[in-house]
Amino acid sequence: MASNFHFLLTLIAFFSLIFASETGIARTVFKPNAFFLPVLKDNSTSLHVVNIQKRTPLKSIPFLVDLNGKFLSVNCEQGYLSSTYNAPICHSTQCSQVGNHFCHKCSSKAKPGCHNNTCAVMTTNPLTHKSVVGEIAQDTLAIQTIQGSNPGPLAAVRRFLFVCAQSSFLQGPLPQNVQGIVGFGHNPISLPIQLASHFGFPHKFALCLSSKNSQNGVIFLGNTSYRIQQRDFSQGLHYTPLTIGPQGEYYIPVKSIRINQKLVQFNTSLLSRTRSFGGTMISTTTPYTSLEHSIFQNFTEFFANEFTAIGASQVNAISPFGVCFNKLPPPVPKVGIAAPVINFVMQNRYVTWSIYGSNSIVEARPGIWCLAFVDGGFKPRAPIVLGAYQLEDNIFEFDLARSRLGFRVSLRADWATCDRFNFTSSA
Ligand SMILES: *[C@@H]1O[C@H](CO)[C@@H](O)[C@H](O)[C@H]1NC(C)=O
Ligand SMILES: *[C@@H]1O[C@H](CO)[C@@H](O)[C@H](O)[C@H]1NC(C)=O
Ligand SMILES: *[C@@H]1O[C@H](CO)[C@@H](O)[C@H](O)[C@H]1NC(C)=O
Ligand SMILES: *[C@@H]1O[C@H](CO)[C@@H](O)[C@H](O)[C@H]1NC(C)=O
Ligand SMILES: *[C@@H]1O[C@H](CO)[C@@H](O)[C@H](O)[C@H]1NC(C)=O
Ligand SMILES: *[C@@H]1O[C@H](CO)[C@@H](O)[C@H](O)[C@H]1NC(C)=O
Repeated sequence: MASNFHFLLTLIAFFSLIFASETGIARTVFKPNAFFLPVLKDNSTSLHVVNIQKRTPLKSIPFLVDLNGKFLSVNCEQGYLSSTYNAPICHSTQCSQVGNHFCHKCSSKAKPGCHNNTCAVMTTNPLTHKSVVGEIAQDTLAIQTIQGSNPGPLAAVRRFLFVCAQSSFLQGPLPQNVQGIVGFGHNPISLPIQLASHFGFPHKFALCLSSKNSQNGVIFLGNTSYRIQQRDFSQGLHYTPLTIGPQGEYYIPVKSIRINQKLVQFNTSLLSRTRSFGGTMISTTTPYTSLEHSIFQNFTEFFANEFTAIGASQVNAISPFGVCFNKLPPPVPKVGIAAPVINFVMQNRYVTWSIYGSNSIVEARPGIWCLAFVDGGFKPRAPIVLGAYQLEDNIFEFDLARSRLGFRVSLRADWATCDRFNFTSSA
């Protein structure tokens, strides 16, 4: 399947040159407003990586997906070759779009990332939390359209704004080969917002991350249905208000946690909006949901009691997890691991995000399964940070125009998983 997909990309890249050409005719006819990106689950870090077509000639470049990131930032010190690279001058309209920036000078030889009188920003690596200076640049980016429920041709943005950073930016336990980090945060030049402004589609995207190692899930952008296995998952979503933090990051209002419908006791004032910006943050760069220390303690104890009551047996925990098991109750058809159902209750008791066994239990080692939540310590960035493992094989729609998060959990119950999106073009 992977090789078919590569063949397809080559084919589509060929057509895209026609669409992206300067001839005018094709460009006026071709007004796409629905796109997708395949997102690979990295088998060593469990983080999610998207290949984006950039530069001239187009080259597929792997980026770490950072839901809360502001920019698309790329390591410019590793063979950046492109005939269309351009760095806007300081105080230009492009620079003003970026927000907080400063004028940039560079004492060495001119090259991508190194020019005088351009603009620069600080860009942050979400894994190390370290920031580096990067030059604001523009270059071609191409993205695959959706036609009907299948991939269509690539569409090109010739002056996509991004950050050209030093290689020291790419530290931390990153997936192999990753050359940059792509932000989906609420910022004028993050990938979804810049594409929406360019193509004139509603500010909306949806994540469907794969749970399977080395398999693609999908990110939908724009005005599209979310069609997987002949089913349209854009229908019948549950909605909760989405708030935006000072760095453009996404929060939702988790008010309480229930396990098997029973309330987990903890100090709920930790979840109040005055303490952390909007309560519960969603993150694709946190592999497992992290809970503030006192919440974590009561949560794991409660879960372990409920799980052992139905036949799981507890063993010593394997780091970074708090509670592990060497025997599980018999699995449930379709849903998989039979674990106590965890409910994150939102604005009212009718809006809950339910987490089933496939998203709550991880096989940490052969024969040892752990509760896939980690201890966030005493002063975390947010009391609850919902991590990638809990997002997988669910759909989360970030509807920025309406400030709401739409979600649909456990596609498995409908025999669908995010890797079953039809990546085959009908063309
Ligand atoms: C991880 O995936 C790559 C291909 O994406 C493969 O070459 C490698 O063998 C895999 N590693 C493991 C441990 O499965
Ligand atoms: C920037 O200007 C300084 C002198 O003001 C010069 O030494 C340097 O080479 C220039 N850098 C580039 C990238 O042109
Ligand atoms: C979205 O797509 C639907 C169906 O394809 C169309 O009727 C509608 O006008 C589109 N909306 C926008 C804002 O483009
Ligand atoms: C944690 O759970 C215990 C019972 O398991 C309860 O007594 C205690 O009050 C809980 N902590 C908080 C802060 O609610
Ligand atoms: C609950 O948390 C708040 C905020 O951290 C703290 O001020 C308060 O003392 C805590 N209450 C208890 C009973 O631990
Ligand atoms: C995927 O789409 C192609 C082209 O429309 C079609 O031929 C193929 O049967 C589809 N595959 C599945 C699994 O639905």
